[in-house]
Amino acid sequence: MKITTNYLIVLLVIAVACSCGDSNQQQASSIVSASKNLPDANHVPLDIPGGPGSAEFIANCQTCHTARYVLMQPKLSRKAWEKSVDKMIHVYGAAIDSLTAIKIVDYLAAR
Ligand code: HEC
Repeated sequence: MKITTNYLIVLLVIAVACSCGDSNQQQASSIVSASKNLPDANHVPLDIPGGPGSAEFIANCQTCHTARYVLMQPKLSRKAWEKSVDKMIHVYGAAIDSLTAIKIVDYLAAR
């Protein structure tokens, strides 16, 4: 009796493991096909407001992510933009000199 129960448990575990594997595969393939329908983020039209600092922003803030990713942030204070740009430089290694960084902060705080 004990052996039969153990045997059934083993079968059940195998059955569950197999069905999980299948659904993961299905999920993965549906994610891939869904992402094929998404536009390439770099080709989504975006209005980058002009003005002082816009050239510096365009040249330095699209290396690792899109400009849209930055401009879709809510309006932030100058202090908050300073912190954000500082993080890009010191945490993520953005190669931006301090004068350029100040121009970008001014630009983002003014928009
Ligand atoms: C070296 C790569 C790199 C460069 C260059 C870069 N970023 Fe980022 N940025 C990242 C990464 C990675 C994230 C996402 C991780 C995160 O949110 O902390 C990010 C996220 C952000 C975010 C989302 C909110 C946040 O603070 O996480 C903002 C806003 C942002 N970047 C602004 C900028 C601006 C402005 C510039 C130009 C001065 C810039 N980034 C340049 C790497 C970079």
